Amino acid sequence: LRATRIAPSILSADFARLGAQVDEVIAAGARVIHVDVMDGHFVPPITMGPIVVSALADRVHAAGAILDVHLMIERPERQVAEFAKAGADSITVHAEATPHLNYALAAIRDAGVSAAAAVNPGTPVGALAEVGALLDMALCMSVNPGWGGQPFIAASLDKLARLRGLLPSTAIEVDGGVDAKTAGPCAEHGAGVLVAGSAIFGAKDPAAAYAALAQAAGA
Ligand code: DX5
Ligand code: ZN
Repeated sequence: LRATRIAPSILSADFARLGAQVDEVIAAGARVIHVDVMDGHFVPPITMGPIVVSALADRVHAAGAILDVHLMIERPERQVAEFAKAGADSITVHAEATPHLNYALAAIRDAGVSAAAAVNPGTPVGALAEVGALLDMALCMSVNPGWGGQPFIAASLDKLARLRGLLPSTAIEVDGGVDAKTAGPCAEHGAGVLVAGSAIFGAKDPAAAYAALAQAAGA
């Protein structure tokens, strides 16, 4: 992942017509579809699992796009094989969710999937210092995980720059509160993949909202 990309998060999509919503943003140019998996433990809500990943895999892959699966679950190393089998192309685990981050990332790679690690707003970027060699991507949470539609935490911009400094050759993703106002600054501070949920699927016209964000980010 080199150029800036907008990754629509289906968390804010209309689940009664999920396939159609994904097709809409792909037609608008999206090539990374972000899937938020929550277990009711690491974060309070429960969302979706491998069944939804596998339901979307064919249409996403046929379009040349990828499924970016963000695991907000405890002990994610126990689940990565299942998500890989379902069709995930990239799997992100949280540094806070396991005492075995190195092992979890190695398990993702062993499953033939791109490996990423996320840090919550309260977690220093240094939490990823020892696993740089295992990371295809690092995710900087710019809201506390669990819900769409929260305001962007402003301190995330400096944090993105610190993450870029710590991992100069690793793709950086930012997730939470990305909209037409915050997308540009996120890209300027080193984020290459910008996740956006409510700014896209909360809009009347998701395709137009995608295009506006892509323009704001220089994608
Ligand atoms: C939050 C999720 C995000 C969420 C972002 O816990 O990880 O991916 O969908 O939603 P917005 O873009 O509305 O902040
Ligand atoms: Zn996410």
